[in-house]
Amino acid sequence: MAIIEPANKEIGENRKGKKYASSIRFWHWINFIIISGSLLTVLINSTLFDRAERSLVKNELINAGASVSDKQAGAVTHGLEDQVWGIHINFGYALAALFLLRLIAEFFLPSAQRLLPKLKKAYQAYFILKKEREAAKHELVVKGLYLIFYLLLLIMVITGLLLAFEDYTGIRENINHSIKEFHGFCMYLILAFIVLHLAGVFLAERANGKGIVSDMINGGEN
Ligand code: HEM
Ligand code: HEM
Repeated sequence: MAIIEPANKEIGENRKGKKYASSIRFWHWINFIIISGSLLTVLINSTLFDRAERSLVKNELINAGASVSDKQAGAVTHGLEDQVWGIHINFGYALAALFLLRLIAEFFLPSAQRLLPKLKKAYQAYFILKKEREAAKHELVVKGLYLIFYLLLLIMVITGLLLAFEDYTGIRENINHSIKEFHGFCMYLILAFIVLHLAGVFLAERANGKGIVSDMINGGEN
């Protein structure tokens, strides 16, 4: 007897529902690439173009036959540093646009896939209904961390844009300086999230969350 296939497999799959919508998957992997690029620009500027490199530039130019002062060598490294900040700022605009996309997606996702309803459900299961408390606690911690990350990203986007447009915001120089320090400090919190997140994903893959990385790529099944 012939096996009757659904006329449209795609429709069958959609009805079943994916664990992660394509918008979230797109956001996740592009965001991963852009944040990595952004962190790389910070790393390049804090290693290749710091003060110590000034003497390297000076010595190289002297070896090539030029006569160069510390100030002139400093102008070269400063110029290169500014170029890299230019790339950082472009990554920043991309991050801001992606954040907006993630925010809009939150309103259009089915309730079961939205972050806030997931957090609320875990909160209720843990504190009010007190059922399956271990699983609820895990969900609460994981989704709570995501919420903290999104708040951090919002802070990075706002402070970053204020810095990028400092010539137009009319904010005083000393306040801009504090904004920059705060922006720089929050990077460490973002790094902490990434370490925790990667450790969590690796541990889950080895325990009962096997396949969550491929779910984040192909959508998984609900
Ligand atoms: C996760 C994302 C980001 C990380 C880890 C990050 C990290 C940093 C760090 C460490 C600095 C140096 C701060 C200092 O000198 O004390 C910096 C500077 C800066 N960031 Fe970001 N940032 C991020 C996102 C953004 C975004 C979204 C924008 C928005 C356009 C942005 C714009 C800037 C600007 C304009 C500067 C100052 C550059 C300069 O000194 O000329 N950043 N960022
Ligand atoms: C810059 C690095 C990264 C950041 C900032 C980041 C951020 C996030 C965020 C915010 C979520 C929650 C999405 C949502 O439901 O709203 C998430 C989920 C997830 N991420 Fe990442 N991620 C990063 C790198 C990675 C990498 C490298 C992997 C794979 C090895 C990965 C695997 C996953 C998986 C499997 C989930 C779903 C986990 C779950 O259902 O709780 N992430 N990530």
